[in-house]
Amino acid sequence: MRIQPSILSADFANLESEFASISNADGIHVDVMDGHFVPNMTFGLPVVKRMQEITTLPLDVHLMIENPDFWAVEYARLGVFSVTVHFEACADLRSLIAKIRAEGARVGVAIKPGTPVSVLVPYLADLDQVLVMSVEPGFGGQSFIPESISKIAELKGLLVERGFATWLQVDGGISDLNIAGVAAAGADTFVAGSAVFGAKDRNAMISRLRDLALGGVH
Ligand code: DX5
Ligand code: ZN
Repeated sequence: MRIQPSILSADFANLESEFASISNADGIHVDVMDGHFVPNMTFGLPVVKRMQEITTLPLDVHLMIENPDFWAVEYARLGVFSVTVHFEACADLRSLIAKIRAEGARVGVAIKPGTPVSVLVPYLADLDQVLVMSVEPGFGGQSFIPESISKIAELKGLLVERGFATWLQVDGGISDLNIAGVAAAGADTFVAGSAVFGAKDRNAMISRLRDLALGGVH
């Protein structure tokens, strides 16, 4: 069970100390938004480059941008741990997956709440992780969409059937109130923004989330 705090909820003026406050995390989820694919805008390549330079934690880059066919490879080239692109935004997903992997990054594909799990089936064998968005991408602090549970369970079933060790990641509205149920449905990698950064003791919250997720499958 992996917990990846989303820095979308962090203080962007103090990233170094914000990173230090989540040292217990399995990775840092980095939300790149362009104001086009999603209404919100965050930061781009130069900022992620600096993040990669100042932390030893693996960066999990989630690209909510148009034209990932061009940009995703540039992020992979920074040496980040993983790069996830949105199915809905890609023109040639198969070749993009190969190009990202050629740069040494793990490859993920995300689907929005309205996109069915079935679109991922042709690509499953080539992916290191799949991301089920459990809110409409764009903003932190939204409520978990309950219908996501059945999508997670369906995707988990497809992965188990094929014997794939692909990570199943969930992003949006994850907290200590629902993580056990989401883990029970089959997720193993959890993005949590407001739940972690809003906690008094962030590392304690990360441990708590991990324990609750483990409890969900036992
Ligand atoms: C939403 C982002 C998420 C967001 C999650 O578009 O992709 O990563 O930061 O934030 P919470 O955990 O607050 O829903
Ligand atoms: Zn995200």
